[in-house]
Amino acid sequence: MSTELVALEHTLVAEITTAADLKALEEVRISALGKKGRVPELMAQLGKLPPEEKKAFGQAVNGLRDRVTTSLETRKTALSAGALLEKLKAERVDVTLPVRAGGGHDGRIHPVSQVWDEVIEIFADMGFSIAEGPDIETDDLNFTKLNIPEEHPARQEHDTFYMRSQPGSTDAPLVLRTHTSPVQIRTMLAQKPPIRIIAPGRVYRLDSDATHTPMFHQIEGLVIDKATHLGHLKWTLTEFAKAFFEVDDVKMRFRASHFPFTEPSMEVDIGAEAIGKPGKWLEILGSGMVHPNVIRNCGLDPDVYQGFAFGMGIDRIAMLKYGIPDLRAMFAGDLRWLWHYGFSALDMPSLAGGLSS
Ligand code: DAH
Repeated sequence: MSTELVALEHTLVAEITTAADLKALEEVRISALGKKGRVPELMAQLGKLPPEEKKAFGQAVNGLRDRVTTSLETRKTALSAGALLEKLKAERVDVTLPVRAGGGHDGRIHPVSQVWDEVIEIFADMGFSIAEGPDIETDDLNFTKLNIPEEHPARQEHDTFYMRSQPGSTDAPLVLRTHTSPVQIRTMLAQKPPIRIIAPGRVYRLDSDATHTPMFHQIEGLVIDKATHLGHLKWTLTEFAKAFFEVDDVKMRFRASHFPFTEPSMEVDIGAEAIGKPGKWLEILGSGMVHPNVIRNCGLDPDVYQGFAFGMGIDRIAMLKYGIPDLRAMFAGDLRWLWHYGFSALDMPSLAGGLSS
């Protein structure tokens, strides 16, 4: 190998081993092996050599290029490991430090949780207590005792998720509850009137499109006493709507409807001016006077006790109140969405302090 090649190899290896960082190393690589680099330049001289020298020269330059490439790679690996260590050191987080107040993207309360708490706050103020029931419910409580016997068309309308029963079992199948109404039954079976409860929870239906998700949230209300009447129902729901939408007055429309567990039954709309969109009606809930059969199914005498019930979609009223356009985005778990629509964990909804401030 010519002394010229040996000298070049020495120079290049020295440059490579002293390159201080990845950027400097890349510059060395370009000046050595790049299109106009020193090694390709040597190769270009090949044409000027006498034929008997060409082969040896070509092999020597190729060998030089291979060795330079290898030392570039070795150095690159070493520098990368070093760079990573530096980066880790620089970005070290001391998790024992106290929380920095007002830090950027802190945790957020989901609008469903926010509205759940707001609704509870309003009804608690009216003297309601909170009742709960399981998400996996018996067919009897989800349907039969609510005056929805087997073969009743309402069972089909509910698009129920049935749980697979044990092989050989003769028990009625369990279902994922299709509504929070079974909590009415559980409450009446467990406690004597007067009853005044709300029951927020998750419910499930085999339904999925732009306005339906297989899991969603409802809040059930139940009042049972000796002299409860439709006027109490209307007053309660009107007061609720005013408090919830944080307006002094709200237009309500009670539309005749049908539910197997109430008679009479009503769907309730609010005038959309409450959310700044005058001229439209928006349905917010179903309600009615509890059907005598339901009261009887719970071991109470319908000639003595009567009352009202309602069921409301929490997600739906959250979307209405906070202008959330897409139901499915509610459950997509996208943090950017939550930072936009979520609430501060330190602002607890309270009637005194403002529900949503
Ligand atoms: N359970 C009904 C549903 O999911 C909603 C409902 C309507 C609940 C009327 C009630 C009621 O308590 O009285 O569609």
